[in-house]
Amino acid sequence: MDQNNLPNKSTSYWHDSVDVPHFPKLNEKIQVDVGIVGGGMTGITAAYLLSQQGFKVCVVDAGVLLNGTTGHTTAKITAQHGLIYDELIKHFGEDGAKLYYEANHEAQKFIEQTIKKHNISCHLTEDDAYIYTNSKDDITKLENEHKAYEKLNIEGSISDDCELPFPVKKVLKMTNQAYFHPLMYLKDLIKICQENGVKFYEQTRALTIEYNKGPTIITEDDHRIICRYVIQASHYPFYDGQGFYPVKMYAARSYIIAAKTKKKIKGGMYINAETPTRSIRPITINNEDLLLIGGDGHKTGQSNEPMMNHYESLYQFTDKHFHVESVLYRWSAQDLVTLDKVPYIGRVTKAQHNVFVATGYRKWGMTNSTNAAKLLTDLIMDKENSYEEFFSPGRNIKADPAIRKFVSYNSDVAKHLIKGKLERTHVEIENLQSNEACISTVNGQRAGVYKDNEGVVHAVDTTCTHLGCEVEWNNAENSWDCPCHGSRYTYTGDILNGPAVKPLKKIDLGL
Ligand code: FES
Repeated sequence: MDQNNLPNKSTSYWHDSVDVPHFPKLNEKIQVDVGIVGGGMTGITAAYLLSQQGFKVCVVDAGVLLNGTTGHTTAKITAQHGLIYDELIKHFGEDGAKLYYEANHEAQKFIEQTIKKHNISCHLTEDDAYIYTNSKDDITKLENEHKAYEKLNIEGSISDDCELPFPVKKVLKMTNQAYFHPLMYLKDLIKICQENGVKFYEQTRALTIEYNKGPTIITEDDHRIICRYVIQASHYPFYDGQGFYPVKMYAARSYIIAAKTKKKIKGGMYINAETPTRSIRPITINNEDLLLIGGDGHKTGQSNEPMMNHYESLYQFTDKHFHVESVLYRWSAQDLVTLDKVPYIGRVTKAQHNVFVATGYRKWGMTNSTNAAKLLTDLIMDKENSYEEFFSPGRNIKADPAIRKFVSYNSDVAKHLIKGKLERTHVEIENLQSNEACISTVNGQRAGVYKDNEGVVHAVDTTCTHLGCEVEWNNAENSWDCPCHGSRYTYTGDILNGPAVKPLKKIDLGL
């Protein structure tokens, strides 16, 4: 495929357009009321809420703030999370499905009210959200989803037509949703947090939690954060605490391009019902109306084709329907999906009252993270919250399709564990081109070898430091990605995504 039309480098527009403040590394023992691990939307919203209530709060991030999934989202603020409500009614009944909707609807309202309250300029735009289909098989699914909207009193309608510049067979609307610039919003929340006394630390990786009188976060540099409560908002929980998260969710990647196109959309944000996913929303960059086109997702480390092809598929789709003039940005995101598609928000296990987790947003992080921050704040304040039980990580998992997925996922894991150990390729390292990678055997050891643009060769042990699966090369992001639970590493072995907390071992090639 011709990939010349795409930017060479993956860069999130959100990051490119906002200067997020930077903070020092933690280099001492500290004591706080609430230690929050993870400086994304969940962690910062929780810090904002708790500090308003007078809690002494710190936020630590293994890298820099807002550089995880929050900085790589499509930033739709909506309770329309694809086709979900009909399925939720089947698994949780109308009451359960209503709880999911209301939690996310309230989260949307909370974001809008917070923006208004603090006069935050973040390009908030109210608009309707649509699920469309061009597949005959999915028409019934859309109709059933519409029936679910009616049962749950969700404002919406179904029709055969919409504002997209190509025909659709059916389209389901949820009215009065929104989108915005997430980093402009969160940058202001960080400022308010600082005014409330919240301390931020970057490049501070949390390794584990120890219990004494209360929980203590232990960092990579062996510093201690003594807490009354810990919130794990680190995407993948760094501390499992026997919650068995590796067998309760899987990691998936998806791709986004920001394109200048001849054809525009007049309004609305869209997602299709079928696969591969195509997500469409308008965005204004440098006073020009562009489109953010996302999707083409797959389980992390388990794509059947080179990762760059996913961007190319998005490009082809955009060009076919909107006529691309240029692509300004491309970037990708990592998301976690739980067994029943409902996030895990609450105590890490029923027995550990002071350690909380929020994870598994299934690509719908803007409202799910805000709901998580609100819910965890209430739990810490001992305040009743009607969503506690529904989102509890310790709930009984009821969803049949997701359990099937889980089973097939586990076979994938086994396959990768075995395949990784047996497979050996013999591409000569000398034959590598710049910006190319291969798997080779160095001194009897399986090595992932990458030659950078300056011709420097980097080699790492391909055994994932989490539970020992073999990592795969990702040529779109120049990273080593683990197919088992989604850990990702740079070509020098540094961690990009957990659950791994240790880098890949470097191998000296003696070149
Ligand atoms: Fe679990 Fe790699 S992420 S083994």
